[in-house]
Amino acid sequence: MKLELRGITKRFGALTANDDIDLTIEPGEIHSLLGENGAGKSTLMNVLYGLYQADEGDILIDDVEQHFAGPGDAMAAGIGMVHQHFMLIPVFTVAENVMLGHEQTRLGGRLDLAAAREKVREISDRFGFHVDPDALVEDLPVGVQQRVEIIKALSRDAQVLVFDEPTAVLTPQETDELMSTMRQLRDGGTSIVFITHKLREVREVSDRITVIRLGRVVGEAEPTASNAELASLMVGRSVELTVRKDEPQLGGEELVVSHLTVTDAAGTVVVDDVSFSVHGGEVLVIAGVQGNGQTELTEAIVGLQDRATGSVLLGGSELIGRSVRDVLDHGVGFVPEDRSVDGLIKEFSIAENLMLDRSHGEPFVRHGSVQIGTLDDFAVEKIDEFDIRTQGPWQPAGRLSGGNQQKVVLARELSRDLSLFVAAQPTRGVDVGSIEFIHSRIVDTRDSGTPVIVVSTELDEAAALADRIMVMYRGKVVGIVPGDTTREQLGLMMAGMSGDAAGATGANA
Ligand SMILES: Nc1ncnc2c1ncn2[C@@H]1O[C@H](COP(=O)(O)OP(=O)(O)OP(=O)(O)O)[C@@H](O)[C@H]1O
Ligand SMILES: [Mg+2]
Repeated sequence: MKLELRGITKRFGALTANDDIDLTIEPGEIHSLLGENGAGKSTLMNVLYGLYQADEGDILIDDVEQHFAGPGDAMAAGIGMVHQHFMLIPVFTVAENVMLGHEQTRLGGRLDLAAAREKVREISDRFGFHVDPDALVEDLPVGVQQRVEIIKALSRDAQVLVFDEPTAVLTPQETDELMSTMRQLRDGGTSIVFITHKLREVREVSDRITVIRLGRVVGEAEPTASNAELASLMVGRSVELTVRKDEPQLGGEELVVSHLTVTDAAGTVVVDDVSFSVHGGEVLVIAGVQGNGQTELTEAIVGLQDRATGSVLLGGSELIGRSVRDVLDHGVGFVPEDRSVDGLIKEFSIAENLMLDRSHGEPFVRHGSVQIGTLDDFAVEKIDEFDIRTQGPWQPAGRLSGGNQQKVVLARELSRDLSLFVAAQPTRGVDVGSIEFIHSRIVDTRDSGTPVIVVSTELDEAAALADRIMVMYRGKVVGIVPGDTTREQLGLMMAGMSGDAAGATGANA
């Protein structure tokens, strides 16, 4: 089917998030939407999916005007959306989740469990998904859960599928699999709208690319365009795609981690006897496929894991056993992996979120009361410095676009005097222009003599930032190698091969 958005305008108060947008999705194409954080991509897709009502403009399917009062109407018209934060119920099976989807919509077409199972099997076979209808969703890796979302949408005969930043949480291998699924769907006649900040993915999979800036369509790009061309079209200026970084001026071993072990609630060892150290003025990137203990390791360092044993010495003082509050007061800056869980309070304003770590003292709190003027000045300055796209410091943080929420967390954590900076996936969901800025701020932090730990699943990010790279596999350290180690060698290490073995194989290959 042919889908047309014509003259779509969507305002939030004084802000025009979508400004007279025209977009046509042809049958059987992969159409990427590219644009800065806050450009209006998610808003436009939410209008299409019936979650928001446009202030102006029309949605047409095969030249017939549509009226979507809610997602149920959009689904009934053949539009599906795979959300970044999955809407699956973890304790239910795959088939139960697919069946539930049907009950919730007003399709009338209720599905019984046997039929749902059959449907899962049929779609799973068609796309080579290998999804077991009777598996519990909570036992499935993220990439497979995403396939369940896709199956859910297809079981309702979606002919246009919207993916809003689906690859942000996937491993490189899961990303490749998703892209081949997208191609397969397209070849079967389904149209796909694809949103991502990773230019490599856009170039690899798109048939057409539309670029949005400040709520308006600024042009189309060819999939053959270079990263630099795409980036400058998006941002409206040329973008440095690699950070400038001098040789590190190493200080002493500021952070010394010894025999750190973390067990999860079920008693499984998730960080297994890990030892390493980080010098002042050094960036150590922890690489590896997600789920190999990196998250728990950083959480243990900042006091978020109460089942941690071993030692974490920062400037000679022991951090293990201290509360998070105490660790942060010790000058540890922390960017958590999932900003929506522990990084931001969405109901609070941007200004309040910017002072979260410092809500118990100077300069923002004096004699028990918040110094509104001081906080307002500080927030305005950070909004400008970090290019946070907002209507003002007192807007709720939850109304910011995804990438802009991430920038609030970074602005807060990078604006304190730090004795250690720990960041997990610091640029997740952030556009190329802002990645450049954030990377340069991380390098500045290192150059001021602070030890820095960055957890990243992106090899490009590891290469851009790392003085050394530590690879983890199944909770253990596979090896610690120089920052300029080849992708091939890192890939082998991520699969669990030791640094030396991987190096030897890499050299021969
Ligand atoms: N419910 C809302 N209320 C007020 N403003 C909103 C709301 N939803 C979005 N906005 C604003 O609309 C603008 C566009 O946001 P949108 O989420 O569409 O951006 P995006 O292109 O998806 O960005 P990102 O790449 O960061 O996800 C932003 O300035 C955002 O703050
Ligand atoms: Mg978005």
